[in-house]
Amino acid sequence: MKIETASLGRQELHDLIGTAISPLPIAFISTVGPDGVNNAAPFSFVAPVCSKPAIICVAIGLRKNEKKDTLRNIESTLDFVVNVVDEKLMRPAIDASTEYPSDVDEIKQVGLTPVASDRVKSPRIAEAKVSLECKVVQEMQIVEQLREGLGLRAIVFGEVILAHVKDEVWVKGKIDPRRLQVIGRVAQNTYCRTGDMFEMKRA
Ligand SMILES: Cc1cc2nc3c(=O)[nH]c(=O)nc-3n(C[C@H](O)[C@H](O)[C@H](O)COP(=O)(O)O)c2cc1C
Repeated sequence: MKIETASLGRQELHDLIGTAISPLPIAFISTVGPDGVNNAAPFSFVAPVCSKPAIICVAIGLRKNEKKDTLRNIESTLDFVVNVVDEKLMRPAIDASTEYPSDVDEIKQVGLTPVASDRVKSPRIAEAKVSLECKVVQEMQIVEQLREGLGLRAIVFGEVILAHVKDEVWVKGKIDPRRLQVIGRVAQNTYCRTGDMFEMKRA
């Protein structure tokens, strides 16, 4: 099978790359709006791109040709928090992807607890085993095909300036992935647990 990507629609291509390059992470991103309302939503098109400085990027598309609350908030405060999704955070993270009005505190709405961050305006989520406070270092746009026509997808690069790691997952100076029990995304609505881990040393 050879697939010319030009022959596929937007959703088919989303499924193709979202499964070919997987498992994808689920970054549960918390932000705050100019009006002080907290927001949280899951994002999978997320990747680390540099170690020192520690830079990660997240790709945020448009919704009905308008910026999502997460992007609006990030552009207003120039910061955000990535909360790592483990098994316990999975249900609330998916629930937070529902379209709520901008004046709803989505962290509380999905049964979680917002707490003030140390170094950024965006709140972090108390229940997350790992939360990364990030400051925006760059934003770029990619032209993308939407149902409504062409639109701009934002790729936001953030520097992780402070990491909160719960003691229960911090072992010998590292995050222990066996204790973190992170969830991965392998297709549109399909996820994996990270229960079956193995080690392979480089030559
Ligand atoms: C597992 C999962 C991963 C998602 N990944 C992305 C993503 O990478 N980029 C994106 O724009 N939307 C993504 N979404 C959709 C957003 O979470 C959704 O549009 C959300 O309502 C945005 O909320 P906001 O308006 O509060 O920012 C994802 C949804 C789910 C359930």
